[in-house]
Parts: sequence; structure tokens; C-alpha cells
Amino acid sequence: MKILLIGCGGREHAMAWKIKQSPLCAHLYTAPGNPGTAECGENVDLDIMDNPAVAAFCLQNKIDLVMVGPEVPLANGIVDDLKRSGIAAFGPVQDAAQLESSKPFSKDFMRKFNIPTAEYAVFSDAKQAKEHISRINYDFVIKAGGLTAGKGVYLPESLEEARQIIDSIMLEKQFGEAGNEIIVEERLQGPEISLMAFADGNTAVAMIPVQDHKRLLDGQKGPNTGGMGAYAPVPFCSKHDIQSMMENIILPAVNGMKELGTPYLGILYAGLMLTDQGPKVLEFNCRFGDPETQVVLPLLASDLVQIALDCISGKLATASVAWKEQSAVTVVVASANYPGQIHKGIQINLPQNENQHEIIFHAGTAMQKGKLVTAGGRVLNITGIGEDLPKAINTAYQTVSNVHFDGMQYRTDIGKGASLND
Ligand code: AMP
Ligand code: GLY
Repeated sequence: MKILLIGCGGREHAMAWKIKQSPLCAHLYTAPGNPGTAECGENVDLDIMDNPAVAAFCLQNKIDLVMVGPEVPLANGIVDDLKRSGIAAFGPVQDAAQLESSKPFSKDFMRKFNIPTAEYAVFSDAKQAKEHISRINYDFVIKAGGLTAGKGVYLPESLEEARQIIDSIMLEKQFGEAGNEIIVEERLQGPEISLMAFADGNTAVAMIPVQDHKRLLDGQKGPNTGGMGAYAPVPFCSKHDIQSMMENIILPAVNGMKELGTPYLGILYAGLMLTDQGPKVLEFNCRFGDPETQVVLPLLASDLVQIALDCISGKLATASVAWKEQSAVTVVVASANYPGQIHKGIQINLPQNENQHEIIFHAGTAMQKGKLVTAGGRVLNITGIGEDLPKAINTAYQTVSNVHFDGMQYRTDIGKGASLND
């Protein structure tokens, strides 16, 4: 098969790495890709927000399957347009992707189908939102309603700060149209995990649970980031826990989407907080997590391409989805000053001899005059695999110690607490 993968981050390098191993894959294109995906196939310079251009490329190059990494093209209806051109694509259609692209849709959906989540109210008027927060007497979170690349969630410390946040989202339009509506949501407490599942419109199969580390510095300090590392599986999440999350969260979501007439096909990602009252959904995402994928796919024993095809043909119930009895840890190596303004174009030195227990996934890298250089905030995702978590941690950090670029920063405690906190 000729496969086109959409995206260019660490998640997409992990997807490309896994797709490449499939006996079904004859040729892999990645658009636009990065130097890591270029090692797994051929990068193509396509505008992934231009659906007709992507469809035309697929028809010209006889692409058999499109795999979509990021949420933005999904919210932009790439799967709808590919389907209209008769091209098989793995991912939700635009209406189904609303589970991520519209928090008001997602929250109302959870309420309608009794999926446990934080109490909330939706506002399209800043004045009403401000009146609401001065009335309620519990801690709350403010979220922009639309897509914000993970930047639209605030945990204000005071009412004054909360009012400023509302103004900046709704009046100053910090996130543009994505701030037309906001959610004011009850603040929950507890450890967080990410549970992703394959879905074929009718049913879903869980992946292994992952814990992401969102704060910049060790010991959950510093600002929130796109994610500084992750590990899987999560020791405090038993098979029984996963089964109950499937029964109470993922399967009701798949059934609910079907009932609404927008069957959910693709990856369904639930960001969960394990509260005293049980797991509650913080958010749904309509795609693989980043950096969760960089630990999940190295542990997937089955063929990702076959699973995607089984989902597309509605045969997930009989698909083989098996996991290795190992652990994986990914450490994000970031540019100096990330998540603030960063310098690009700094030369990166990578170790020459990788082995099967370590994988260096590229995220924000580029080739410049034949040299590998930094090209983003999060530069590399270094995954270690081992028979248990301590061994995986060791391997990951040993590899990190052989990587160098000026100003590189990373957390030294990824997976180390295996902790009840991130
Ligand atoms: P989200 O993008 O909605 O997952 O939110 C980003 C981060 O904000 C989450 O990983 C949590 O750490 C935090 N968060 C979101 N919603 C809540 C909530 N209702 N209560 C407490 N923390 C939250
Ligand atoms: N790791 C969080 C996300 O992919 O949204």
C-alpha cells in the first residue's frame, strides 16, 4: 500500500516509524514531515490545510490510505474531503472531530450521554461569564471553546485574574475565533492519565494508559508546556480500571456519537483526572496524543496499518490489538527558554549507534545545509524501552546524555515517581 501521513511533529515521527514496520506498507509519504519522518519514507511539501491539494496528491500518487496526526486538519474536514474523493482515511470526520474542536459541543455531549466530567457553564458573553464567576463559590478553570494548541486552559488564582483571563480570551481575542465561547468549569483534583482508544464507529479498543508530564520543571514545577515527557503503562491503573474507563467513558462516547449520526472513527483520546469520585474527563481529543504516542506505539505489538484498515472497514471487534509486556518512557528535549521565545537553527549532535531499546523521535528539527538543527520549542523526544519502568527510564536518560545542542533542557524525573501526580 501507498500511505500518506499528515503532520510534522514527534507524534508523526512515531507514527511513521510504526507504519514503516508494517508489511502492508510499500511506500510512506509524510506531509510535510520532518527529518525524522524522512528516515522512514519520503517527505512531501503539501499544505495540509488545503484539502483539495491533499486529495489531488492522493489521486495522482494512488495513495491507498491516509493517516492523520494533528487535530487541526481533522477539524478542517480533511477526512470528509478525502472520503468524497474516494480515498480511505483514518480519522474522524469534521462533525465527529468536534469532540475536540468545540469544548461546548464536547461538554454538552458528555452531559447528554452521562459521561463523568466536571460541572460547567458555557458563555458567549464576557459580562455574563464574569457575573457567573463572582456568584459561584468553588474553585474553577476557564477554557477557550475552540482549538488553541493546548494553550487555552487557565487555572486562575483570584477573581481578578479570572476576569482578566475572560477579557483576554473573549474581548481581546487572544485565540481569535476560538475564544468566541468559553467554559467555566469546576476544578477537579487528582492524578491525570491519558487513555487513548481505537474506534471504528461501533466499538472501541483501549490502548495502554499513559501519564504525560506537562510542567516544564522537575517535581511538577514551572509553567505548563505541550508536554515534557510521558511513560506507559501507568502502574496505578489496573486492567480492571481500564475496563471500567472503557465502559463508563470511551464506549458511551462511541455509542453517543453513533446515536447523533456522526459515528466516531479514528483515535479517541480521553484526558482523565482520577478523582475521589472516580475518573472524570478533562477533555476529549480526536487524535493520538503528543508525546503519548512516542511511548504507546513502541509498545504496540500489532500492526498499526492493519488496525487502521480494520477500523475503516468496521471490523475492529475482531482486530488484533496486542501490547508488549514492556514499559516505555519518552523524555522531551527542548530548546533554551521553551515555552517562551526560542532561537532556531542551533546545530544538534545525535549519537551514531541507536539500538532497539532506544528511539530518537524528531519533533522540532530541520536540515540546514546538510546539518541537523533545532527548529522548534520541543526538539527531540527520546524514548527508552525496557522490561520494566526503571529500565526504560535508564535507557531513555542514557540516550539523552549522548545528545547535545546548545541550551538544551529536559526534565530529569520523567516516569520516576510513576506518580500520583504529573
Ligand atoms: P485540557 O487541555 O482541557 O486537558 O487541560 C489542560 C490541563 O489543565 C489538564 O491537563 C489539567 O492539568 C488542567 N485542567 C483542565 N481541566 C481541569 C479541571 N476541570 N480541573 C483541574 N484541572 C484541569
Ligand atoms: N499530550 C496532550 C495532547 O496530546 O493533547
